Amino acid sequence: MKTAVVFYSSDGNSALIAAQFKTNFSADLLRVEAEGEKKRGFLSKLFWGCGMVFSGKNPPLKPYSFDPSAYDLIVLGAPVWAGNPAPPIKTFLSQTPINGKKVIAFVCHAGGSGNSLKKFTAMLSGNEIVGVMDFQKPLENIEEHKKRIEETAKGLLSGVN
Ligand SMILES: Cc1cc2nc3c(=O)[nH]c(=O)nc-3n(C[C@H](O)[C@H](O)[C@H](O)COP(=O)(O)O)c2cc1C
Repeated sequence: MKTAVVFYSSDGNSALIAAQFKTNFSADLLRVEAEGEKKRGFLSKLFWGCGMVFSGKNPPLKPYSFDPSAYDLIVLGAPVWAGNPAPPIKTFLSQTPINGKKVIAFVCHAGGSGNSLKKFTAMLSGNEIVGVMDFQKPLENIEEHKKRIEETAKGLLSGVN
């Protein structure tokens, strides 16, 4: 099953989970980045990120190349920002339509995923959602999360390869 992992990560948690998916699914990896994104302190990032969520303005992304038609399974991941998947992944989905694929959506958060996975999968209608996963503070607790991803891969890949 040809797999791609597409993710946004500001502080490395979603990047860590994406790397684990890459390993377990032998996937290609695409990290999307907001144009002009710079290192920010905690509060500054909170204002920047929540500002985008509340205004509904998704940021432009740095150029990337991605052809969904090359894949059977697409794993999409992002941090939770104010109860939503972080806006850069929304930009990605608005400019790169994904249809007719098997999809796993994951979010990383600090304690509450809220309705973020519901909102994420709502943006993925037209696909077969084969998994939704949330990960709390992966950088502090990767071993447990690794196991969950390994189990997911085993379940989905058994009988396919
Ligand atoms: C702008 C902003 C908003 C956030 N909102 C939430 C939230 O609503 N719920 C939550 O549990 N964590 C929230 N967090 C924490 C992040 O979701 C969490 O640290 C996540 O693991 C970061 O992923 P990353 O390292 O891939 O960027 C927020 C962080 C930022 C910067």
